[in-house]
Amino acid sequence: MTSFYVTTPIYYVNGAPHIGHAYTTIIGDVIAAYHRQLGEDVFYMTGTDEHGLKVQREAEKVGKTPLELADENSGKFRALFDRFKIKYDRFIRTTEPEHARVVTELYRRMFERGDIYLSKYEGWYAAADEAFVDEADTEEIDGQRRAKESKAPVEWVAEESYFFKLSKYQEPLLAWYRANPGCIAPEARYNEVVSFVAGGLQDLSISRTTFNWGIPVPNDPKHVLYVWLDALTNYITGVGAFSDDPNWRKFWPASVQLIGKDILRFHAVYWPAFLLSAGVEPPQRVFAHGWWLVEGEKMSKRAGNFIDPNELVEEYDLDVLRYYMLREVPFGQDGNFVRARLAERNNAELADNLGNLVNRTLKMMERYTGGVVPDVKPAAEDEALIAAAFAARDQLHACMQSLELHKALEAALGLSGALNLYVHQNEPWRLAKDEATRERLHQVLVQATEGIRWVATMLYAFMPGKMGTILSALGCADEASRALDTLGAWGGLKAGITIVAPDVLFVKMEPPAAAVAEVTPKPAVEDKKEKSKPKQEKKMTTENTNPAIPAPVAPEGNLIEFDDFNKVELRVGLIKTAERVEKSDKLLRLTVDLGEPEARTIMAGIGKTYGPDELIGRRVAVVANLKPRKVFGTLSQGMLMAADAADGKVELTTFTDAVAPGTRLG
Ligand code: MSP
Repeated sequence: MTSFYVTTPIYYVNGAPHIGHAYTTIIGDVIAAYHRQLGEDVFYMTGTDEHGLKVQREAEKVGKTPLELADENSGKFRALFDRFKIKYDRFIRTTEPEHARVVTELYRRMFERGDIYLSKYEGWYAAADEAFVDEADTEEIDGQRRAKESKAPVEWVAEESYFFKLSKYQEPLLAWYRANPGCIAPEARYNEVVSFVAGGLQDLSISRTTFNWGIPVPNDPKHVLYVWLDALTNYITGVGAFSDDPNWRKFWPASVQLIGKDILRFHAVYWPAFLLSAGVEPPQRVFAHGWWLVEGEKMSKRAGNFIDPNELVEEYDLDVLRYYMLREVPFGQDGNFVRARLAERNNAELADNLGNLVNRTLKMMERYTGGVVPDVKPAAEDEALIAAAFAARDQLHACMQSLELHKALEAALGLSGALNLYVHQNEPWRLAKDEATRERLHQVLVQATEGIRWVATMLYAFMPGKMGTILSALGCADEASRALDTLGAWGGLKAGITIVAPDVLFVKMEPPAAAVAEVTPKPAVEDKKEKSKPKQEKKMTTENTNPAIPAPVAPEGNLIEFDDFNKVELRVGLIKTAERVEKSDKLLRLTVDLGEPEARTIMAGIGKTYGPDELIGRRVAVVANLKPRKVFGTLSQGMLMAADAADGKVELTTFTDAVAPGTRLG
C-alpha cells in the first residue's frame, strides 16, 4: 500500500494559536483526507515547538516555568485542532523524552561525519525568529536594530558555540535540488532557494550557552542545541526515527512538508543539509504557502487584529470556513481574510450553486419516485454531462498532486454548476407531467443524483461534515463508499435505495454592505450625469433616424422623467421555494431571496404556466418596493415581472447565475 506522510510546522508555545496556524493545519488535514480517500496509508502530524530563548523569555515574563507555559499553550493548540476536527495521527511536543533521544542521535551522526566543530559566534540574533542574522540583513528603525525581512529586533551575541559545516553542503544541496525539481514548491520558492544556496553558504551556529531551555549538547551539557536543529528533527521523531518502529521505514522521507514562506530557509536549506550529513534522505517536497492578512492589514499584536480561530469556529460553520480559506487564496500566495468575501462565496458558490443543486434534485427525487432510486441507464444525450464529470475528477486529481487546492475546489464546483444547468435544461418538472416521459424523468433524476455523489466525493476531504451528510443521504455512509475509486465509472449510485433529502445544507449569510453597494447603481450620481449632459446631445439620442431601431413605443404624452422611473426598485430575486395555493389554479406562493437577510414571500399568478419545481433556483425580476398587500390571506411582499404570452400563459423575465440576488435593474 502506498504510504503518505504529511506534516505542518510545529508551533511556538510562547502564545496562543492564530488564524495562520489554523490555516496550515487545515491544509494538512485536507491533503491527508484526500490521500486516505485514495486508499493510501496516511500519517499526518502536527504539534508544538517548545524549547528556545523565545519561550524561556515569555515564561519569565508571565512568571511560569517554561514547561508550565508550554503545557498551557500546547494544550490550546490541541484544543483548537479538536474544535476544527483535525484528524492528525500524532501531535508531537518537542519536550517529549523520545524527541530528545532522536535529536541526540541525529547530532551524534552529524558529529561522526566530521561536520560539527567548536568555535565562537559573534553576531546578531533575532529571538522572535530564533534566527542568526547577518549584519547586512539588519537595519536601524527608530533607534532599534532589526532584521530587515521580519522586522524582529536583534541583539548582539558573543559566545562559545558549536558550528555545523553548512558550507560543505552547498554542492550536495544544489545537486539535490537539481535532481528533484519538485522538492521545493511553488516553483518561485524553488528558484529563490536555489539562488540563495548558489550564492554561497556560511557555517551555522547550532548551540547556545547563555540560557538553558533546550536539549543539552551530548558530551557538553553547558550548551543547549539551537532550537531549529531541535525543532526540525520533530519530523523524524514523529515516525520513530533511528528505531525499529515500522513507521520509520514506512513514512520517511515525508511526502509533503507544509510551511509558511517565512520559514523556507530553515526547511529548504538547513533541514536537508542536516539530514544529508546524518545520512538520512531529505523530504520529498517542502511546500511554502503565503501569509494571511486580515481585512488588508498584516496581523500583529500592535494592530490588535489577531483573529482567534476559536471565535471563527463559533461564528461560522466549520466546512464553510475551510472552503473559504482554501478557495480564496491561490495556494502558495498571500491571502486576505475578508468576512464580506466569505459571505459572498458562501452565498454564491455553496448555497446557490451546490446547496441548491442538492436540494432541488433530491426533493424532486422524493416527489416523483418517493425517493427510491430508479434502475435506469443514462441516455446518449447524457454523454456530455458524464464527460464533464470525468474531466472534473481528473482535474481534481491533477490539482491535488500539484497542491493547487483552490483549483481542485474550482473543478468540483464547476461540475456542480454543470449539473445545475443539466437539471435546468432537462426540466424534470415538465417530464413529470407526462406518463410518456417517465423513463426520461427517471434518467435525468438519476444522472443528476449520481453527479451529486461525484461532487460530494470530490469535496469530502475539504468539507467532511456537509459532504458526509450528502453522501450518507445517497447511501454512502461508510468510508469505503466515499473513496475516490468509487468515481472510476459513472453509475455508482445504487438503484433501489431510498433517498431522504437532507435539510438545507448551506445557510445564506447577510450580504455585506460593500457587496450590495457594488451591484446597486447610485441613482444620485446617475441622475446628476444625466442632468449635466449638454441639451444637444440629449436630443440626438432621442431623435432616432436609424430605421433599424424601432421608434419609442410610448406616445409622447406618456413619457416619464428618469426620477419617476427611478422610484421603481427592480431587483433580481432568486426563487428559493414554490408551492401551489390551495383552491387556486393560478396562484403560487414563493419565497424569493432578494439579497436581504430574510427571503420575501411573494404571491404570483403564474401557476398556469409554471409548476413549482421548475421555478426553484430561477433568478427573476422583482418589483421590490411595491407596498405589501394580502393575496389569498398571505401578505405578498413584491411582484414578479412577466409578459403575457399566447394561450393565457406568461413568460418570466429571467437571469443567469452570473447575476447575484439583490442586484438592482436599471
Ligand atoms: N516553530 C516554528 C516552526 C518550526 S517547524 C520545525 C515557527 N512557529 S510559528 O508558530 O511562529 O509559525 C508557525 C507557522 O505559522 C509558520 O509556517 C508561519 O509561516 C505560519 N504563520 C504565522 N503567521 C501567519 C499568517 N499570518 N498567515 C499564514 N501563516 C502564518 O515558525
